[in-house]
Amino acid sequence: MNIIVTGGAGFIGSNFVYYELEHHKEDRIICLDKLTYAGNLETLKDAMKNENFRFVKADIADREAVFKLFEEEKPDIVVNFAAESHVDRSIEDPGIFLRTNILGTQVLMDACRKYGIKRYHQVSTDEVYGDLPLERKDLFFTEDTPLHTSSPYSASKASADLLVLAYHRTFKLPVSISRCSNNYGPYHFPEKLIPLMISRAFEDKSVPVYGKGENVRDWLYVKDHCAAIDLIMRKGREGEVYNVGGHNERANIEVVKTVLAIMGKSEDLIEFVTDRPGHDRRYAIDPTKISEELGWTPETSFDDGIRETVEWYGKNKEWLNGVLSGDYMEYYDKMYSNR
Ligand code: NAD
Ligand code: TYD
Repeated sequence: MNIIVTGGAGFIGSNFVYYELEHHKEDRIICLDKLTYAGNLETLKDAMKNENFRFVKADIADREAVFKLFEEEKPDIVVNFAAESHVDRSIEDPGIFLRTNILGTQVLMDACRKYGIKRYHQVSTDEVYGDLPLERKDLFFTEDTPLHTSSPYSASKASADLLVLAYHRTFKLPVSISRCSNNYGPYHFPEKLIPLMISRAFEDKSVPVYGKGENVRDWLYVKDHCAAIDLIMRKGREGEVYNVGGHNERANIEVVKTVLAIMGKSEDLIEFVTDRPGHDRRYAIDPTKISEELGWTPETSFDDGIRETVEWYGKNKEWLNGVLSGDYMEYYDKMYSNR
């Protein structure tokens, strides 16, 4: 099969490219990526050596470029990872989130309609459900939880999800959607919590924790997420949404302390800074549907995954230094200097 993977030069998309090349040697992977600040060709350098892999630099919202690629490749499956993905950036400047995350999704699905497709899979997020109260540990997001977004990022992802379901109902496009909790692992851009903490702690710089660090996220090792998407796009039912998560809830402060302990760094590096506006309190996924229908469960415990992740960054300082460019330092100063 020919599989177009959009956003394959980013964090989860690149892990997925490697997952597919390893587990489905019979398939051809075409990565379409605009290479924004979050996309990095260095990440795909090993994939480039594989004759079943092709990279194309393009914007998913560029109709002409997308249709040209579909004309050339006649894909069987399209998996859409391409997105603006950082909540803090969406608070600074929402416009690009609407363009890429919503209009880009529309362009891809229009191309799927024109050229025909076995499956269009939309990679979404648990953030479309809003948040849960910290004190109600009995509550989890199911696929039936109402959409109730907090940030421009999550609003753009929820809009895209609705459009995907509308294309299924109206045009019979064979779609599926996965809504996953927070991922961590190799190739994660150091603007997100875990890689930011690791990259700053390496240099004994302060690690900024929003508010009191009480907010809870449900962490999933990226390779377990890739396995879930692979299953859903090949075996999941059309028109369905699947939540992906592994009951791995941790308060941010606990995650940061764990990272510092593994690195042998002092907790004195922790700096509590002004909270994020509209900060979602708790995310927690109920993965019953994917586990009962498709037999998926995460294989990596948080203890193992976080240790492997810290080790990966230690062994890949060149990659890390490559992404910590001048633009990145400007971003860091802009976002954190007045907190
Ligand atoms: P990322 O920011 O690391 O990567 C995004 C990739 O998309 C980059 O390679 C970037 O160059 C590319 N891109 C951005 N705009 C584009 C455009 N207009 N056209 C083509 N390519 C474009 O993101 P990620 O963390 O890997 O997330 C991937 C997907 O998974 C996103 O859709 C995100 O909403 C979703 N998701 C992420 C998480 C998480 O914890 N990271 C959790 C749940 C869902
Ligand atoms: P993040 O990695 O941005 O993911 P998301 O907002 O999509 O869940 O943030 C994870 C949690 O960590 C979130 O509660 C915000 C918090 N956080 C900090 O405390 N400090 C930071 O510097 C960052 C980037 C995030």
